[in-house]
Amino acid sequence: MNIQNNHYPGIFISFEGIDGAGKSTHIHFFSEEIAKRYPEKKIVITREPGGTSLGEKLRETLLNDSMDIRTEALLMFASRQEHIAQVIEPALRQGDIVISDRFTDSSFAYQCGGRGLLVEDLEYLERWVQTRVVNNHSFLLQPQTTFLFDLSAQAAEQRRSATRTPDKFEELDIEFFNRVRQEYLRRASNDLQRFVLIDSSLSIMVIQEQLKSRIASM
Ligand code: TMP
Repeated sequence: MNIQNNHYPGIFISFEGIDGAGKSTHIHFFSEEIAKRYPEKKIVITREPGGTSLGEKLRETLLNDSMDIRTEALLMFASRQEHIAQVIEPALRQGDIVISDRFTDSSFAYQCGGRGLLVEDLEYLERWVQTRVVNNHSFLLQPQTTFLFDLSAQAAEQRRSATRTPDKFEELDIEFFNRVRQEYLRRASNDLQRFVLIDSSLSIMVIQEQLKSRIASM
């Protein structure tokens, strides 16, 4: 992995996947393992929408209230702007490892793939919120590595219904999650350097081994 990818000394990693694919289960394990690999670095575990006090208020609204789909996209990016400014950028600047449970790939997958907004419109928001200038060099702030937990929409729905009460997104039908999944896979196939595809139908132990071997090469 190219640690200088974001022109900061820190390392930025995101976890992605449709609801029920199991990404959150693996974040804790991953953070413990990467802490062994980089004992001198501070680990910051965070999430989107959320990660700041304003972001958590926006999360509450986003996951519970109905709203126009453009409002939804704008609030996701509002939460992200605050998250980058308050948490992600300061941490990366001081050399920390930032692990975010979801980042901008979720917006493309859910708001474009799922809801049907135009990719170009979100690319505009992405550029606006994530462009940074360091040493006169302008770049798009992105995770160096994104773990995509991939699972069929049917299997994910079964897992969700066994474990929790659905929020606004989790109540959506299987077709919605099929589209979200396809958009994730399309993005991953366009950026094989950043994405690591994890087959979430495999056992937790097998996935943990894959995460460990990935960390060993970081
Ligand atoms: P979580 O419970 O996995 O943290 O996910 C929160 C929900 O928000 C999940 O259903 C995905 C959705 N979401 C979007 O629709 N767009 C986004 O940009 C983000 C970050 C999350």
